[in-house]
Amino acid sequence: MSDHRILEHPILPAADPPTVSFSWRGEPLLARPGETIASALFASGVRTFGHHHKDGAPQGIFCANGQCAQCTVVADGLPVKACMVSVRAGMTVQPLDGLPVLPDAQGQRRTRAIETVGIECLIVGGGPAGLTAAIELGKAGVRVLLVDDKHRLGGKLVLQTHKFFGSIEACHAGTRGIDIATRLEQEVRRFENVRIWLNSTVLSVFSDRRVGVLRDNLQYFVVRPDILLVAAGAREKSLVFPGNTLPGVYGAGAFQTLVNRDLVRPTEKLFVIGGGNVGLIAGYHALQAGIGVVGLCEAMPECGGYKVHKDKLVRMGVPVYTSHTVLRAEGRDEVEAVTIAQIDRKWRPIPGTEKRFECDTILVAVGLDPVDEFLHKAREFGLPAMAAGDSEEIAEASAAMFTGRIRGLEIARRLGRDVGEVPPEWHRTADVLKSRPGMTIPEDLPEEQAGVFPVFHCTQEIPCNPCTSICPRGAIRISGDDVMGVPEFVGHECDGCEKCVAICPGLAITLLDYRKDRAQPTVVIPYEFSARRIKKGDTVTVLDSEGTVLGNVEVSRVRAPREADRALLVRVTAPADLAPRIAGIRVQEPWQAENAERFVRSIGDDEIVCRCERVTAKQLRELIRSGIRDMNHLKAVTRCGMGACGGKTCPNLIKRIFREEGIPPDQVTDLTRRPLFMEVPLGAFAGVVAGEAPIHDVPRRHATAAHEGGM
Ligand code: FES
Repeated sequence: MSDHRILEHPILPAADPPTVSFSWRGEPLLARPGETIASALFASGVRTFGHHHKDGAPQGIFCANGQCAQCTVVADGLPVKACMVSVRAGMTVQPLDGLPVLPDAQGQRRTRAIETVGIECLIVGGGPAGLTAAIELGKAGVRVLLVDDKHRLGGKLVLQTHKFFGSIEACHAGTRGIDIATRLEQEVRRFENVRIWLNSTVLSVFSDRRVGVLRDNLQYFVVRPDILLVAAGAREKSLVFPGNTLPGVYGAGAFQTLVNRDLVRPTEKLFVIGGGNVGLIAGYHALQAGIGVVGLCEAMPECGGYKVHKDKLVRMGVPVYTSHTVLRAEGRDEVEAVTIAQIDRKWRPIPGTEKRFECDTILVAVGLDPVDEFLHKAREFGLPAMAAGDSEEIAEASAAMFTGRIRGLEIARRLGRDVGEVPPEWHRTADVLKSRPGMTIPEDLPEEQAGVFPVFHCTQEIPCNPCTSICPRGAIRISGDDVMGVPEFVGHECDGCEKCVAICPGLAITLLDYRKDRAQPTVVIPYEFSARRIKKGDTVTVLDSEGTVLGNVEVSRVRAPREADRALLVRVTAPADLAPRIAGIRVQEPWQAENAERFVRSIGDDEIVCRCERVTAKQLRELIRSGIRDMNHLKAVTRCGMGACGGKTCPNLIKRIFREEGIPPDQVTDLTRRPLFMEVPLGAFAGVVAGEAPIHDVPRRHATAAHEGGM
C-alpha cells in the first residue's frame, strides 16, 4: 500500500519511522510508535473503515477527536474508535462492516475494587484553558487532578503550527501553538500538587456529585471533587448536504490532527467549507504540508475569520468563494468532487453559478459547539462547577489561555486560598482576546520612497500586538489602550532589523528598503514553506494582500533568523511602483473550477441528518409534520440521537429541521441528556480491567464497592 506520510515539513520535526507491525484485513501494515489506528490506516492510503449496518454506506473518519464514532473499526475482536486507540504490535484490525459482534464473555471475570479519589479540583481537559487554570491552582497549593483523553497535554495547541495572535505578555503571541503547549506542559509539571492523568476519559457526572473516570482507558475510578472545572474544548459542527457522510468529508480539526500531530498526508487535493479561522488556518496548514487546496467557500459575504488568515490563503493561490454554499459531494465510495454555488440574499443557490472542483477531501469547518455537558450535569446535581475556554465560550485559544488563568484564581479563592481578587485588567484582557474581528480599513500604503521602514498589510482590527513589543526602537504603535487597533510606524528611524517581519503571526508585515536603489528597492517577505522551495536567484510571483498578481521578481536573499522561528525571510528586488504593494509569494497555481450542471438545491429529503443511525431529513420532516415536537419522541421512533457518538453530532441539525418546518424553538423539547457522556465497556464499572493482569480478586458481589482514597 502507498505511503502517505509527511517526511519533511517547514515547521514540524521529522517523526519516528513506522516500525510497529499490525494487520488490516489480514494485510501487514506498519505504524509509527504510539500512532492511532486511524492515522496508521490513512498513512497507508486506507480511508474507508467500514460500512454502515443500515444501508451499507461507506464510513470514514469525521472528528478524529473521540467525539463521534464514525471511524469505528474492530481491533483484536473489539469495536474501538480508530482515532483514539493506538496501534499495538501484532494488532489485527478489521473494518466494521455492519454491527459489531459482542465479544465472548464466557467464564469467570477477574475484578477489583473501584477506588474513589478525593480531590479539591478536578479539571476536565488539558488544553490551553485547563493547563493555565492548573498552573494558577498549582501556584496556590490547591490539590488538582487534571484528566485528558489524549497521550499528551496541550489540546488543540498541539495541532497549531502557526504563530499565535494576542499579546506576548497575555498569551505568548508570536509563538507557535505547538511550542506554547510544550511551555505550558513544562510549567504545570513543576507542581507536585497537580496530578495528571493522560489517556484518561471523564465519563460522567453522577447525582451523588461524583465523577466517573476511565484511567489509561483501562481502569475505572470514581473521583470526588470539591469543585469541577470543565475545560474540555469544543467539537466540530456537522453540516447536511448530499454526500456529507462519504469517506473524505471530515472536520478541519480532524485534518489538522492527521497532518500536524501525526504527520500523515491524507489528501492530494482538498476543498474547505467555511471561512472562519478554523477553515482558513486548516487551508494554510495543508499548503505547508504540500497539499493542494483547490478552494474555500463561505456562505457569508465575508469570511468570518481574521482577514490576515484569508489574505495568506489568497496570496498562496487559493481561491476563496464568499456568498457560496456547498451543493454536494460526489463519489461512489469516497469523495471525488465537490460542487458549490453562489447564494442569494435568502440563502438560495443561484442557478447558473455552480462550480465543480475535483478533489479527494472536503473539510467541514462550519463552527464549533462547546463540550459543556459535564458542566450542565454537575450544576444539575449540585456539584460546584465552572467552565473555561471553549467549554465556556467559543473563542481563540489565546482567549482560552486567559480565561483558564482567571478560573484558576477564582477556584483557588473559592477553596479558601489567600490569592487575592482577580485583577480587573485580567477580565479586560480576556474580553479583548475574545473579540471578534473589528473594522477593516483600506490599506494605507506608504508614499515615501526613501530609507527603510515596515509596511503593514494588516488592515483589520484584531487582538494582536507582538510587532509593537519587538521593535527595538519602539517605533511601532497601536492607537488606543488595548491591542485591537491596527499597527502603524510612528518613528522616523528604522534599523531594518526585520524583527517585526519575523514575529508577525499574520505574515502581514514586509520591510521596504530604498537605501541602495530607489528605483529598484528590496522587499523582505515572510515565507513559511520549505527552504527547498526557494533560493537566491529564483524568480517568484508576488501578490498584493488581496491576492492580485503583481508580477515576477527575483529573489536576492533567503535567510532563516532565529527570531523568525523556522520561517524564512525572503528578500526580493522589485520596481518602486510595485514594491510597497508586495505582500506575499505565491506557492500554488490557482485552481480553475469546471462548470457544473445546473443544480437547484431542493429540500434535500435524502440527506443524512443523523450520521450514526443514517436518519434522513425526510424521515424527520414527516414525523414533525405529523405533530411531533419532542426530540425524544423522534429518537424513539427513528433512533436519531441514539447512535454511537452518544448523540453529540446531530441534535443541532435536528433542531435546524424543526426551524425549517417553521416550528419555533420554544415549542421543541430537547433531548434528555443522560449522565454518561462517553462510551465505556460496561465491565469497567464492575472493576473488570481489560488487557491488564488483575491486582487482586474481589468477590463479584463486592465488585462495585468503593475504596475511598485521596492524594
Ligand atoms: S449523529 Fe450520532 S446519534 Fe445522531
